[in-house]
Amino acid sequence: MKIAVIGTGYVGLVTGTCLAEVGMEVTCIDIDQRKIDNLKLGILPIYEPGLEEMVVRNTSKNRLYFSTDLAESIKGADVAFIAVGTPPDGDGSADLKHVIAVARAIGRSMNNYMVIVTKSTVPVGTARKVRAAIEEELQIREMPFDFDVASNPEFLKEGAAIDDFLKPDRIVVGIESERAEEIMQRVYKPFLLNGHPIIFMDIPSAEMTKYAANSMLATKISFMNDIANLCEIMGADVNMVRKGIGSDARIGNKFIYPGIGYGGSCFPKDVKALIKTACDNGYEMKILKSVEAVNENQKNVLFNKVYKHFQGDIAGKTFALWGLSFKPKTDDMREAPSLTIIDRLLEAGCHVKAYDPVAMKEAHHILGDKITYANDQYDALIDADALLIVTEWPEFRSPNFNVLSKLMKDRIIFDGRNIYDIKQMQEAGFTYYGIGVKPQYHSTVDIA
Ligand code: UDX
Repeated sequence: MKIAVIGTGYVGLVTGTCLAEVGMEVTCIDIDQRKIDNLKLGILPIYEPGLEEMVVRNTSKNRLYFSTDLAESIKGADVAFIAVGTPPDGDGSADLKHVIAVARAIGRSMNNYMVIVTKSTVPVGTARKVRAAIEEELQIREMPFDFDVASNPEFLKEGAAIDDFLKPDRIVVGIESERAEEIMQRVYKPFLLNGHPIIFMDIPSAEMTKYAANSMLATKISFMNDIANLCEIMGADVNMVRKGIGSDARIGNKFIYPGIGYGGSCFPKDVKALIKTACDNGYEMKILKSVEAVNENQKNVLFNKVYKHFQGDIAGKTFALWGLSFKPKTDDMREAPSLTIIDRLLEAGCHVKAYDPVAMKEAHHILGDKITYANDQYDALIDADALLIVTEWPEFRSPNFNVLSKLMKDRIIFDGRNIYDIKQMQEAGFTYYGIGVKPQYHSTVDIA
């Protein structure tokens, strides 16, 4: 099969590369010449474990191509995936200008039947707009080619995107004809080997599925953060509560980890967009509004603990931050809670010395020289008044606590991800604050 993927951002690049990996001929297209030149050399615009090797391998096997020439690259394609960005515009809805511009460009140059698939996260009703844009261009050309639009939302997690693509829990495809269904079935056949289903449905339902999935996950997180905050007040330990409720199969033990709020490119944007879609259509998403409000509040929780511990006397103090990206195994800083925490600390006159295994460069783009960037996780601790755990990178999970004790001015840890056990921390002589665990609470059970 011949595939065109338009947009070499996170979603486009993973989609194109994984489709090439199973033997399809794929051209990834972008208007950014530098990005394309770099990709041809195996230099990627994003960090995603395993992706670089896969890009290089498939490029050398002549299955994966990169180009800025959309018109040329979509000629003869069976499927064109639109995977360009949909940044939130001023009022919280997804900005569709790139998606529609690509649809028009396809309409201006297609020369055969193809399925045009929206892969970007787009509001319900977008596929209809894509169809209208293509039809308009074809009318101008007086070329009545037949085509189908389809919606195929992605459910990739940053840091695990390749695995998610190659071994998906499910693939959701919204279609409007049997012909398109048959073609999409062929595209995804190689990924259905382990019994996971491809679910065909109408296009609006597929578009809605993506928003409903992300909003449900964001809801789980905000709910647990709310419970964690209440646990602290009531003298309960949220880690125990999490285990207690997670073993109920109806609730499940995934995505119920409290922390410092969700971030990233999807949850904040998608929750906002769904609230907006509902509002535009005369409906109020009350739960999601609260999900958002709880999340904004949660980004301040770690700073508030610091402030309270030092009784407001924090100006001039130095805080070590472990982790900057919104979650481990990515350099993505979009909507990262670290940004709120750093803002609050700087506003209060503190010094911040941060370390992140991969996101330092990305953080520097945003924060410049407002903070100090440490050489490694231990370097960040030298003369620190306290350590803040912001991202749960695996290398932060079992550090040498003796070294920590020696390097830090004071042995205080504010753990925004509950990666340490309060009992062990207390025994090692640390003052420890977690999320949803009472400070100095005597935990008797190991925390998984
Ligand atoms: C998410 C969805 O999981 C994915 O299906 C969709 O396609 C894109 O959005 P991603 O943004 O990469 O993926 O990150 P994810 O691993 O889902 O985490 C999102 C945020 O939730 C992170 O900030 C993470 O720290 C937070 N989180 C996650 C929690 O606070 N607690 C949890 O239990 C799980």
